[in-house]
Amino acid sequence: MFSVLVVEDDFRMRGLIKELLEKQGYSVTASHDGKDAVPLIKERAFDVVLTDLRMPDIDGMDVLSCAKEASPCTPVVMLTGFATVDSAVEAMKRGAYDYIQKPFEPDVLLLTVKRAAEYHRLVDENLKLSAELERCFDYEFVGSGRAVTELKKLVEKVAPLDTTVLIQGETGTGKEMVARLIHRLSPRAEEKFLPINCGAIPDTLIEAELFGYEKGSFTGAAGQKKGLFEAANRGTIFLDEINNASCSLQIKLLRVLQEGSFIRVGGVEPITVDVRVIASCNTDLAKEAEEEKFRKDLFYRLNVVTLSIPALRERKDDIPYLARHFLAKYGKRFSKEINSITPEALAALAEHQWPGNVRELENCIEHAVVIEGGNEITPGSLPREILKKKHYTDPFAHTGVSKLNETEKFLIQRALRVFDGQKAKTAEALGISITTLWRKLKKLNLE
Ligand SMILES: Nc1ncnc2c1ncn2[C@@H]1O[C@H](COP(=O)(O)OP(=O)(O)OP(=O)(O)O)[C@@H](O)[C@H]1O
Ligand SMILES: [Mg+2]
Repeated sequence: MFSVLVVEDDFRMRGLIKELLEKQGYSVTASHDGKDAVPLIKERAFDVVLTDLRMPDIDGMDVLSCAKEASPCTPVVMLTGFATVDSAVEAMKRGAYDYIQKPFEPDVLLLTVKRAAEYHRLVDENLKLSAELERCFDYEFVGSGRAVTELKKLVEKVAPLDTTVLIQGETGTGKEMVARLIHRLSPRAEEKFLPINCGAIPDTLIEAELFGYEKGSFTGAAGQKKGLFEAANRGTIFLDEINNASCSLQIKLLRVLQEGSFIRVGGVEPITVDVRVIASCNTDLAKEAEEEKFRKDLFYRLNVVTLSIPALRERKDDIPYLARHFLAKYGKRFSKEINSITPEALAALAEHQWPGNVRELENCIEHAVVIEGGNEITPGSLPREILKKKHYTDPFAHTGVSKLNETEKFLIQRALRVFDGQKAKTAEALGISITTLWRKLKKLNLE
């Protein structure tokens, strides 16, 4: 059912319009002037706003601006008497959807409102689809090389089982993305996924943050507060960068993992929660445990299933796919028709070492999409640091044309072979004197 807000100060006219629209199944909110209508518009998004133009205090123009600001896709139809038609036209210039001149035939009103409501539905649907499409870009774990294919298979296997997972990989390799993927493919998908960066919260706050506190447990604890573990109940908690967890946090985490329960700061009763734990680390945690830099007992608890995401430089076959994926994402976001990446630009991407991994590649393509004026990504639109390799400053790269002395060498060798090493005939065929030939043979190490 479409919702319509009718703003009209004339009591009889307002009643008439409300009745007409309600008969057609619209849900109508009637408002007697602009002052009354503005809070309603700010409070909820109507499918259509129908407003009289001339009203005391806050008039139809003000109602229009307010509606455009609060809900830009809601169409606003102006009702106007003969004397104010010019203002109605002005209102359309400022974004009104249409105007109806009073007195009007009921059918004209109904048709206009119907068209406006339909328009709103389409705009709304379009927005939702675009948002969904954007989200698809954010969900898809791209890559078809052997490493990523194996990884995806493992993710599908562990996701439905309620086991703890440790995701290992350098910065920007997609650890959080994999964690979210596991959550989405698990029976907990409808529940919360709560990421928490173990290194980012100071030690003094982390316990209260994770487990909550009781009233009066420390200065400033005015009331009871639930922690993240309770908030994530029935869902998944993502302990990001667990290698940065302090010693005291490690002990507390170990207890929750072992016992499935914890005690709030200042509390006495243990609280049991049903939470799946996924952790990530950007170092070799096994090695850190071996070197006593990380608690061994916690490592064994976390290391039930370990997924390792290789660095991007170790799986360069994924680069073109990722690059095209990000090109589509940012082309759409910035409304640019860039459809491809030139072989030279792809070669530059393949050559780079990607210390920031996929995140760095994503930023690089975003940069290129912004910079590029044509309809394909060329080396010129890539960030400078990607191009520092000599290869891309070579004007003959990928042209099949080689350097002058290489060309010379090639021609001389060929002529020598044809004339069985006879210098005079070779020099003649090359159009140079025999002394020049000797000089060149010496220079090119062909003697
Ligand atoms: N295989 C992939 N396909 C598509 N996008 C990816 C892929 N891997 C990573 N990304 C994108 O790269 C960016 C970094 O990913 P993410 O945040 O998951 O990495 P991370 O390993 O958690 O990094 P950090 O260690 O720095 O926290 C994100 O924008 C993510 O969407
Ligand atoms: Mg991360």
